[in-house]
Amino acid sequence: MNPNIKSRLKRTAVLSLAALCIGALIAFVQIQNENAAVTQKPGAPMAVAGVQIGGNFTLTDQGGNTVTEKNFAGKYKLIYFGFTFCPAVCPTELAKMTRALNMLGGKADAIQPLFITVDPDRDTPQIMGSYVKAFYPRLIGLTGTQAQIDAVLKSYRIYAKKVQTPEMSDYTMDHSSFIYLMSPDDTLIAIYRSEDTAEFIAEDIENKL
Ligand code: NI
Repeated sequence: MNPNIKSRLKRTAVLSLAALCIGALIAFVQIQNENAAVTQKPGAPMAVAGVQIGGNFTLTDQGGNTVTEKNFAGKYKLIYFGFTFCPAVCPTELAKMTRALNMLGGKADAIQPLFITVDPDRDTPQIMGSYVKAFYPRLIGLTGTQAQIDAVLKSYRIYAKKVQTPEMSDYTMDHSSFIYLMSPDDTLIAIYRSEDTAEFIAEDIENKL
């Protein structure tokens, strides 16, 4: 393919992904290497147009236990980043994730759903615990120190920022909203967006497991 067309296609793909994000800037519009190919090495995070997504993390689950990606070895992971005080987007996306998992029936056993907070100041393990229970029995809520959360947000290219205006009694979080499907060896398989339905996600996961 003509290299100009190729780089234009790459740029278009990145821009349409950005356009689909609700109320958030996306870190990965900044393509570090325009010429990098899309590569997928086993055991390594997928590189989307030269940008790596996913990687190691150290966080705390709702029981107060330290958890890394190794705790879910052998499992696919469905990961959503958000915060428990979120008025609309996060509960909608987590409910959708739950519906997709329910549609998968027994096949969902191969998947560990994770909810990682972008708001560790307020989302303590206790708060995460009571929140995730409301959605799906096997959903694990992960929080951590600000440095641990910053590191995982960076590796998954999640934008998150505190926002407060004078009329607000407390801050809210502006954040990107994606559901990531990761392979058992932590390779990115798919990114689902707000407009993807539970039916679409369930069918797509079924095809990819
Ligand atoms: Ni939210």
